[in-house]
Amino acid sequence: MSVEILFLVSLLAVLTYAQETGFVYNGFRSANLRLDGIAGITANGLLKLNNDTSQEQDGQAFDPYPVQFKNLPNGTVKSFSTTFVFAVRPPYASARVNGFAFVVAPQSGLPGSLPGRYLGMFNETNNGKSSNHVFGVELDTILSSEFQDINDNHIGIDLNGLTSEKAAPAGYYQDNGEFNNLSIISGQEMQIWVDYDGSDKLINVTLALIHVQKPKTPLLSLRRDLSPIINENMYVGFSASAGSLVTSYYVLGWSFSVNGEAQALDLSRLPKLPQIGKETSKVMTIGLSLMVLFVVSVLILGAVYVIRRKRKLAEVLEDWERDYGPHRFKYKDLYIATKGFHDQELLGVGGFGRVYRGILPTSNIEIAVKMVSHESRQGIREFVAEIIRIGRLRHRNLVALLGYCRRKGELLLVYDYMPNGSLDKYLYNQPKVTLNWMKRLRVIKGVASGLLYLHEGWEQVVIHRDIKASNILLDAEFNGRLGDFGLARLYDHGTDPQTTHLVGTFGYLAPEQMRTGKATTSTDVFAFGVFSLEVTCGRKPIKQGDTEDVILVDWVLSCWDRGDILEASDPKLRAEFVEEEMELVLKLGLMCSHPNPSMRPSMRQVLQYLEGDLPMPELLSTGISSSGLTFAHREGLDELAMSYPSSTSKAFSHLSSVAESLTSGGR
Ligand SMILES: *[C@@H]1O[C@H](CO)[C@@H](O)[C@H](O)[C@H]1NC(C)=O
Ligand SMILES: *[C@@H]1O[C@H](CO)[C@@H](O)[C@H](O)[C@H]1NC(C)=O
Ligand SMILES: *[C@@H]1O[C@H](CO)[C@@H](O)[C@H](O)[C@H]1NC(C)=O
Ligand SMILES: *[C@@H]1O[C@H](CO)[C@@H](O)[C@H](O)[C@H]1NC(C)=O
Ligand SMILES: *[C@@H]1O[C@H](CO)[C@@H](O)[C@H](O)[C@H]1NC(C)=O
Repeated sequence: MSVEILFLVSLLAVLTYAQETGFVYNGFRSANLRLDGIAGITANGLLKLNNDTSQEQDGQAFDPYPVQFKNLPNGTVKSFSTTFVFAVRPPYASARVNGFAFVVAPQSGLPGSLPGRYLGMFNETNNGKSSNHVFGVELDTILSSEFQDINDNHIGIDLNGLTSEKAAPAGYYQDNGEFNNLSIISGQEMQIWVDYDGSDKLINVTLALIHVQKPKTPLLSLRRDLSPIINENMYVGFSASAGSLVTSYYVLGWSFSVNGEAQALDLSRLPKLPQIGKETSKVMTIGLSLMVLFVVSVLILGAVYVIRRKRKLAEVLEDWERDYGPHRFKYKDLYIATKGFHDQELLGVGGFGRVYRGILPTSNIEIAVKMVSHESRQGIREFVAEIIRIGRLRHRNLVALLGYCRRKGELLLVYDYMPNGSLDKYLYNQPKVTLNWMKRLRVIKGVASGLLYLHEGWEQVVIHRDIKASNILLDAEFNGRLGDFGLARLYDHGTDPQTTHLVGTFGYLAPEQMRTGKATTSTDVFAFGVFSLEVTCGRKPIKQGDTEDVILVDWVLSCWDRGDILEASDPKLRAEFVEEEMELVLKLGLMCSHPNPSMRPSMRQVLQYLEGDLPMPELLSTGISSSGLTFAHREGLDELAMSYPSSTSKAFSHLSSVAESLTSGGR
């Protein structure tokens, strides 16, 4: 029997041999710890409970072998003792970091536990449960009211949960009883002792700075039997939790013993902490690189802004344009002048593009900027040359072209600003603001004078090609000024292959022009005739009626036929006009828009008639046989309709039917 007992005892001894009764790690270089999560061992043997991750994760390090805390499963926990040297280094002094703990646990890890305030020891569901069988000493650096923490720098004894059984602010008692505060996250190396007296059932926790003798008075003393908590075989280790701030939890050395005081650490052999300077320099490197990154991004953003602005303000300037220096406007100036081509500055959208009002930055001159899209580069040189040449035209009744600017696919023409806008808005849809006869006559005379200058007054004959009320602008004194002169012709110079040879506006096109597409001074006179009728009668050249459209020229003729040409005058004038003048202008208008070009007067004659310098030749309404006129219209239209593809002929078919109705209809 006694032999059997002896055998059993020796067997037990053999079995316990594989278990820890104690160990000393003066540095962990050759230690065989079980590491979990983000725990690791540095090259020089520091146990680092977290790597430098900035995510909330936990890390654990356990001695791999179980410790036999009891002789029997139902026995009492033996005395045990442990001591370790640690340091906690936050990124900066007042950083909120979580802390770490020494733990005795049933496994060599703490699976399912949470980081953050749970310190990697427990989770929401198992915190505080007696089934945990976890004993811990926490070095808690965060104040969690949830766990009734006393402050954010305390040491506590945890039994199965994070609500400490007993806790005290970090510090130590000197032999004279004086208390020294310590800050766990100060980065200083500190030593801690945890001693449990199995017979006294007393737990002592003592803290001190490294190289300070173990204080006689422990920081914490708790009388508690650990037997219900600590099982027979348990594992010892550490648990820490990283937060969003990169904090380093170091353990430099660790000693543990059951049934006796833990062997003292050989402080001189402990691995060295990374130099604070190095850490700072690391912080500085990070800071610096962040700053460099910031500066670089600012520079890049700045460059992008500059480039984008430059691109936005980019213009095309070729060598041959140097000669046009004085006529060349900077796009930037035009951009500023028109407030970035703001919609509020939009004066109108014309046949050739949008027109903006602007004020030149330095000179404060009011301008109108016309944007003409110019798709093809081909012919641009001639185009600009002509514009410059035309820009030299100066006449009281021409809107002065001040200069131009060129961008990719876009030409900007800078004109004098005409405060009273275009004439058409005074003729139509403006019953309140209307021009009296005197003003209208002055406008007609002015336009005639401007047109004469274009035709005869200059070294070259300039054909306007697009005379109509909306192209006549009124200056501050309500003088009529011809705008867009030459543009039609210029635009037709083969620069845009889409543009047909026919340029102008329907209703103002002379019959022979519709036939041949050729513009002459005589076709300008025709358009001028229609225009002066338009101004006198206050009616559009082609008025869309309910049943049939009415051509203005024909209508005036019909009034004349009936013996009352004055009937054609604009009713808005309320007969407030000089009858002779009215009659003269109406007849002159008809004469100018004669279907036969040879019957039309020249602009010089027109002006002479208007000024009364020359008497109007006696004209018979039958002389401008209306059938002849409509025939001319019809002939031209038919040819046009034939020579244009069906898609474009749509526009003409309408006119064709107008002509048709006029020839076959009532007249
Ligand atoms: C920290 O450890 C975790 C888990 O091993 C890993 O996913 C992460 O990349 C590590 N971070 C750094 C900064 O080393
Ligand atoms: C150990 O404890 C359990 C229950 O706590 C009990 O059933 C068992 O008898 C005990 N064994 C000894 C040897 O005391
Ligand atoms: C809490 O931890 C325990 C193990 O200690 C695990 O079994 C349980 O699944 C965990 N609970 C949660 C919610 O993670
Ligand atoms: C120690 O810290 C406590 C608060 O934690 C403070 O009240 C006390 O004044 C401190 N003592 C010393 C000596 O700094
Ligand atoms: C715990 O501390 C008390 C003094 O407060 C001391 O008398 C006792 O011996 C200590 N026990 C251990 C196990 O260190």
